Amino acid sequence: MGEGIMRLGFVDVRVTDLEAASQHYVDVMGLQETSRTEDTVYLKGWDEYDHHSIVLRQSDRAGLVKMAFKVHTYEDLERLEKQVHQHGAIVTRVSKNENFKVGEGIRFRLPSGHIMELFVDMDYVGKAIPQINPVPAPEGLIGVGVPRIDHLLITAERPHETIEFLMKSLNFYMSEKVVENERSDTPMSAWLFRSNTPHDIAVIPGRDEGLHHFAFWLDEFNELRKAGDIFSKHDVPIDVGIERHGITRGQTIYYFDPSGNRNEVFTGGYIAYPDMPVVKWTVDQLARGIFYFNHRQEWLEGFTGVTT
Ligand SMILES: [Fe+2]
Repeated sequence: MGEGIMRLGFVDVRVTDLEAASQHYVDVMGLQETSRTEDTVYLKGWDEYDHHSIVLRQSDRAGLVKMAFKVHTYEDLERLEKQVHQHGAIVTRVSKNENFKVGEGIRFRLPSGHIMELFVDMDYVGKAIPQINPVPAPEGLIGVGVPRIDHLLITAERPHETIEFLMKSLNFYMSEKVVENERSDTPMSAWLFRSNTPHDIAVIPGRDEGLHHFAFWLDEFNELRKAGDIFSKHDVPIDVGIERHGITRGQTIYYFDPSGNRNEVFTGGYIAYPDMPVVKWTVDQLARGIFYFNHRQEWLEGFTGVTT
């Protein structure tokens, strides 16, 4: 996939009750707690080998503190630092261990105000399965047993500015976009990738600095059913699902963590390559793009309106 950004590294999210949050993410979602301080919990999925992909941070409100993407090399980091600077963002250097267990990096704000960081190294912990002659899955997974983080959706007052910034200064590729009509090219929303999935990040209209959701990967559709069973058992509030996305063609359940951060369990979708022709959704078909099955439902308003 070339050099530059490799994948989403971690999301750092605010929670209003660290104990309730860590119980949810460990006992219901099945993440592994890798470290803890007084006000912070670090988590990873069983199929992830870096120290963490989620940081939970005690706060008085929910929402995103920042997102961090992992970059291939320090040369890439320097090049991206220049590009980000050229596109008008103020870049600060992040020193080693300023993020616990994470190496040197850079920090800047997207046009939407979101804090983004890039880093190259994080402490290696290893997967919950061996590297040599591995079993396909570990035994004794707890709850949903999510293998890894997948993507996040952020909101912006002027989405096209942030979309352009992500593509021009960070070399994200676009898989799909929402436009006014068939002849229009300006994205009202866009799904962007650096890995080989339809999106590592997406930008939709909403308030600046808003988090719509971050998502965990599940291996197949039946895992969503199992997740739904577990959510019901543990009184996890389900927002929408099981559903099918027209955009990305993924399948999904949306739900809320105990602080009200929207999360998703996601599976399916296609393989994305940098040369793929961008898929357009005209805004009159947006409901099908978001929820292909129940596109007539009125709860669509609440889904797009509620962010943290
Ligand atoms: Fe999603």
